[in-house]
Amino acid sequence: MKLKYLHFVRGVSINQIGKLGMVLTTSSFITFIFLEVLRMMKVITNSYVGLITYLLLPSLFVVGLILIPIGWYKYRVSTGKSTKELLATRFDQNDLQKSRLGASLVRTVLLFTIINILFLSIASMRTLSFMDEAEFCGTACHSVMSPEWATYQVSPHSRVACVQCHVGEGAGALINSKLNGAWQMISASLNLYERPIPTPVHQLRPSRETCEKCHWPNKFYGSKLKSFVTYQNDEKSTPLYSTLVLKIDDGEEVGKAGIHWHINDKNTVKYASVDDKREEIIWVEVDQPDGSVKRFQNKKLNDLEIKSEETRIMDCVDCHNRATHIYEDPEKAVDKRIRKGLIDRSLPFIKRESLGALLSSFTDSETASNIITNRLNSFYRKNYPDLLGVKGEAIDKATEVLKTVYKTNIHVGMNIDWNTYPNYLNHDKDSGCFRCHNNNMVDVENKPINSDCTLCHSILAYDSKEPFQYIKPVSSADKDSAMHVYLQEEFLKSFN
Ligand code: HEC
Ligand code: HEC
Ligand code: HEC
Ligand code: HEC
Ligand code: HEC
Repeated sequence: MKLKYLHFVRGVSINQIGKLGMVLTTSSFITFIFLEVLRMMKVITNSYVGLITYLLLPSLFVVGLILIPIGWYKYRVSTGKSTKELLATRFDQNDLQKSRLGASLVRTVLLFTIINILFLSIASMRTLSFMDEAEFCGTACHSVMSPEWATYQVSPHSRVACVQCHVGEGAGALINSKLNGAWQMISASLNLYERPIPTPVHQLRPSRETCEKCHWPNKFYGSKLKSFVTYQNDEKSTPLYSTLVLKIDDGEEVGKAGIHWHINDKNTVKYASVDDKREEIIWVEVDQPDGSVKRFQNKKLNDLEIKSEETRIMDCVDCHNRATHIYEDPEKAVDKRIRKGLIDRSLPFIKRESLGALLSSFTDSETASNIITNRLNSFYRKNYPDLLGVKGEAIDKATEVLKTVYKTNIHVGMNIDWNTYPNYLNHDKDSGCFRCHNNNMVDVENKPINSDCTLCHSILAYDSKEPFQYIKPVSSADKDSAMHVYLQEEFLKSFN
């Protein structure tokens, strides 16, 4: 550094306060640059270090800058000297002399001010973008967000940043989310947050600003074939198949029913529920093309149960409430692992035992891991001792897979057990579609909302031994029939 600038630094640090200010500003500046370079080189990715770099250091920098003039002011008051006199004692004649560009001191101050402003703008931009990283949102306040982070990482949206669903667009949304974030930081450090974190998220932006940026409604057309397998509790864990053709159309074409009809731009479906859980629906209204409104009323709810109403215009998260934080149903979780071959189906009673192991306790994941291991091993040791040698590896692998399932879904510290966060895309009990599509939800003519089994999907197989009903050819000489058989065989193969 030029001698001139060292002079300046020394001149400005007039007393203890001024010196402290100078040390804070300079050291936080240097440390910030150092850590930022390491982060750019990907040597550091830890979000705690990020918190220090982007929140603590810029704050210390500003505090330092403020301390310097405070130091001057205090010194002036205590010595009773004027600023001019002080300047004369702290700087030499050269600095104060007028030249073509003004006093050299003025130029130095200007230079440092520009550097400060530049630094602060770059630092605040970096701070904002750091706070938008999924890694920061998911790991900075560790135990609080660990369930959301765990489920997010294995979800179809693992590459979509948290802010793309949780913040939405516009300056208002940004400020709102930062204020909210600041409160979250405080409540996380003071341990004030609720366990589990309550849903719905009231600050969640309308889907139009979030989900629909990537999935716009008129993109939904046609149908989607989906196959389901569930394994029974017998020795062979025999599979049962259900095959659906889900009608995911937005119902744009007249007369064609479709699941995404509810969120077609042309339709508005409004509803009121007993509380903000949105599970017990009081009424549903559909705007009609002629401007009138068609209303379906829940005839089973009596007025006493309705204390207050929460009204909402239906959007994506009324069905896809678990778009990314997907907590599995324990049985479906086991079925899925067996189907993928991660759990070996040739192990006797593996479905029953796996499910039993997962459901046997609600403890921290380490204790649960031991319980799962012990349970599976002792079952096979006791009932199938010969198997331990031949299938030992398969048993170990199943144990590992079940431990991971447990760890992703169960979070004791946050009171998250199986089914804490139900998924609305189903028809278990009265949640999901059947909240509205049931016989109690009737219009003025007492006609209920349609809930025929084929309204939402065609059913090609329902808990059957084959994933698809096999149609025998009429005659082997018939070319069309032969083609039909070939296609069916190809179709069947795709299930294995
Ligand atoms: C694809 C969109 C999407 C992404 C990406 C996303 N979320 Fe969510 N999040 C949601 C929805 C939808 C809900 C449930 C909203 C509701 O029902 O009110 C939710 C709920 C939550 C909740 C409340 C608890 C719960 O499970 O209901 C927390 C906390 C949360 N998200 C944190 C995060 C964090 C942290 C990230 C990034 C690691 C993230 N989210 C990424 C859509 C998303
Ligand atoms: C930044 C873009 C983006 C945003 C915002 C977004 N998604 Fe997605 N979504 C994706 C991508 C990418 C996929 C994965 C597509 C694939 O696997 O083929 C996906 C997949 C899905 C799927 C299919 C999942 C599956 O199992 O196949 C659903 C349902 C979905 N998103 C709903 C939502 C909902 C609801 C929201 C708002 C809460 C949302 N998405 C917000 C990009 C986004
Ligand atoms: C908040 C209430 C509500 C929920 C929840 C709901 N629906 Fe609907 N749905 C309606 C109403 C109201 C209609 C229109 C009924 C009418 O006008 O006859 C409708 C109509 C439909 C239609 C026919 C659309 C057309 O083109 O005519 C399908 C298909 C459908 N819903 C599927 C579903 C599925 C699948 C789910 C669950 C994932 C679901 N609905 C959840 C209220 C709801
Ligand atoms: C009435 C309930 C309902 C609403 C509202 C709804 N969806 Fe869906 N959505 C479904 C169902 C049911 C499926 C089929 C389930 C499956 O694929 O497993 C589906 C499938 C999807 C898929 C996968 C499609 C594919 O081709 O695989 C995406 C993506 C999706 N929805 C996004 C959205 C978005 C975005 C919105 C809001 C604009 C939305 N959905 C609103 C019920 C709904
Ligand atoms: C209002 C829409 C709707 C109606 C009516 C409806 N379903 Fe479904 N069904 C769904 C949705 C949504 C799913 C879940 C799809 C998914 O998981 O992707 C589903 C899934 C299923 C499954 C496979 C899921 C599993 O867990 O095994 C079967 C089987 C099924 N339905 C049968 C029926 C039968 C039988 C009826 C008539 C009593 C019926 N459905 C009525 C919307 C509906």
